[in-house]
Amino acid sequence: MSSTKKVAVITGSLRAESKTRTMAKAIIAEAPEGLSFEFADIGDLALYNEDLETDTPPAPWTAFRDRIKGADAVLFVTPEYNRSVPGALKNAIDVGSRPYGKAVFSGKPAAIVTASPGGIGGFGANHHLRQSLVFLDMPVLQQPEAYIGGLWEMFDDEGNVKSEDTRKFLRAIADAFAALIERSTKALENA
Ligand code: FNR
Repeated sequence: MSSTKKVAVITGSLRAESKTRTMAKAIIAEAPEGLSFEFADIGDLALYNEDLETDTPPAPWTAFRDRIKGADAVLFVTPEYNRSVPGALKNAIDVGSRPYGKAVFSGKPAAIVTASPGGIGGFGANHHLRQSLVFLDMPVLQQPEAYIGGLWEMFDDEGNVKSEDTRKFLRAIADAFAALIERSTKALENA
């Protein structure tokens, strides 16, 4: 990879002991050289309201937008809430999508990893999020698809992945995402 690419990491759970945040860290640990990661926090974003879209929008909105603007790519790691995207994450998508014509997500390659204690692995959230990212014109990693079940048994007390197979799968996701970022960057340079 030519130069280090910055990846903003957005997790859909706000709780301190979030397992999907642990999952995000595990993916980062498996990522190849050439990528750097920074979490973009979404917990302090006011609910999106067009009335607040003035010359001085809420400071957390501006900080979030600047963080995404400064990134080359976005990694989403999220649980599923009621078979869909957690409200806090959908709000972050909405905040980043406006003002009209200035969506900070546009064109940035993305990967979506959903995880759940159950067997379905957040499939509903994964594809609802995918739907929004299509509208935002983000090239989204297609394969490997990442609907990860068994979330509550996945890590030891230090946050290490217990299963070697799972670790390999997380590495495969990170490698495929790095390749997508590389391809997308080249395509932009040649455009
Ligand atoms: C859930 N959970 C859940 N799980 C799932 O697989 N499908 C679902 O539709 C839901 N719905 C849901 C709604 C709400 C409001 C909560 C709080 C939870 C369970 C969820 O996957 C579990 O709590 C995860 O551990 C949440 O991820 P974090 O917080 O550990 O990152």
